[in-house]
Amino acid sequence: MNSTPTKKVLVKTFGCQMNVADTERMVALMGERGMEPTENPKEADLIIINGCSVREKAVHKAVSFLGEQQILKKQKGEKGPIIALGGCVGQLDKGEVFKRAPYLDFVFGPDAIDQLPELVHKAEEGNRHFVQVEFDKTLAYSTQTKVHGSKAQAFVNIMKGCDKYCTYCIVPFTRGREKSRTIQEVLDDLAGLVAKGVREVTLLGQNVNSFGKGNPNTNGYEPKELHNPIGKVGPRAGEENFPQLLYAIEADPRLEKLKRIRFTSSHPLDFSDELIACYGPKEKGGVTRLAKHLHLPVQSGSNRMLTKMGRHHQIENYIAQMKRLKELCPEVGMSTDLIVGFPTESEEEYLDTRKLLDEVQFDNIYAFMYSPRPGTRASKLPDDVPNDVKSRRLNDLLAHQLTIAKTTYASRVGQTMEVLVEGLAKHQNMMKEGEKGRVWTGRTTCNRVVNFIDTTGRNYLGQLLMVKITGSTSLSLSGELVHDSGYAERNDGSVQYTSSYSSSEVVQ
Ligand code: SAM
Ligand code: SF4
Ligand code: F3S
Repeated sequence: MNSTPTKKVLVKTFGCQMNVADTERMVALMGERGMEPTENPKEADLIIINGCSVREKAVHKAVSFLGEQQILKKQKGEKGPIIALGGCVGQLDKGEVFKRAPYLDFVFGPDAIDQLPELVHKAEEGNRHFVQVEFDKTLAYSTQTKVHGSKAQAFVNIMKGCDKYCTYCIVPFTRGREKSRTIQEVLDDLAGLVAKGVREVTLLGQNVNSFGKGNPNTNGYEPKELHNPIGKVGPRAGEENFPQLLYAIEADPRLEKLKRIRFTSSHPLDFSDELIACYGPKEKGGVTRLAKHLHLPVQSGSNRMLTKMGRHHQIENYIAQMKRLKELCPEVGMSTDLIVGFPTESEEEYLDTRKLLDEVQFDNIYAFMYSPRPGTRASKLPDDVPNDVKSRRLNDLLAHQLTIAKTTYASRVGQTMEVLVEGLAKHQNMMKEGEKGRVWTGRTTCNRVVNFIDTTGRNYLGQLLMVKITGSTSLSLSGELVHDSGYAERNDGSVQYTSSYSSSEVVQ
């Protein structure tokens, strides 16, 4: 008896965690229609390019991957895969790309992801060159997280869009206006995920700390109002807000097995005093399961640049926020985003950014050369910092960060840290010649990568383990598993994890 082979879907992801979460959702939605994920374009029946338009280079990567798929249509003719362009690149392109890539079947934006099965069905019926990039115009944002397989970690969208309109940034044009889910909906969603084995969540949005704007606080959650010496832009008194969500997660008995709450990304304007308090000890209003890590993009160390970028805060405000946070939670790990070569940036202004690294002592930075994005306010300014200067500043900044991180990472040697295991390390070269065992990799609560060798042959995927740190580089720690650290006690073994997220999936 001939059985029909299972159809396969490949989603190629570019961009931020939001796109990674969107990919997960697309794979899960197509999985509900019987499709299995694959990484091999040659065996895919459906190829989706989930593109990012934050910088020109990112768009090129998506378009060039699309170009590489042309051969499959040529070789297989009618039997070739359906090819679709999605993500922020799809949203902005609106079908222009059909002229250059006639083999492409359809284009869709992030708000059309839930319609993906219907769009694919439409293409299977022979329809081609259609576009679905309408923004969802409803005021409320309601969704339920979908994950494929069994995972210890999950990305959970809690808000979407961005109202900040930084002058350089395309995101408000690709993701639309800010909208938040309700606290109750997020709690119910998390309860479902925890019941399936999720132990760490990353609450996602472009500005998660402005979560709640527009949602009436009908359940009377605390704190009722947020304060920030920089100014006021987030949710108003009487609306739901992000610290309320964190406290509600902590208090929900259904979420006891949730060990870590992360969030990304956030903006200094919405980094309220109340949110800083969440990092403190329990008796001072702390949320015990909030991961001791903060990613707070700053973009530049120069006030003139910050003004031109439309960031609406001064560098002194940012430094004061980080200082307060560190005082309250000395073990916190901090990371940021930076742009070099923004229009008119002088050498001194670049050096202000470099100086900021010394002052704040970030664990990690994500630094980018300015790339003009069509339609943004900054794109009307002359892109007058030459490419070689941008490139020199970027390399200098990254090298400087590595020297700082070398010291901060080395200071962890000797400590024993709790690690959530994300999988086998890509490089097994920690093993010495002739040594038996495998190298696993995971993260600490402060988001540091830790690699360790195991010789027992156990499957540690998704487990929380104690690791004694014995070595360090500028980017990661290495250590030894503390074998009597209560493996069975900390991990009830009720879930067999099939896969996990890895930061290397995020290509920017
Ligand atoms: N919402 C977050 C925030 O407030 O920063 C993340 C925005 S974006 C997806 C990620 C990072 O890309 C930004 O923080 C910024 O450093 C960088 N970025 C955005 N637009 C850029 C541009 N036109 N050129 C270079 N880098 C850019
Ligand atoms: Fe872009 Fe600024 Fe919004 Fe971040 S806050 S997504 S950088 S506009
Ligand atoms: Fe993310 Fe890139 Fe879109 S950074 S929101 S995928 S433009």
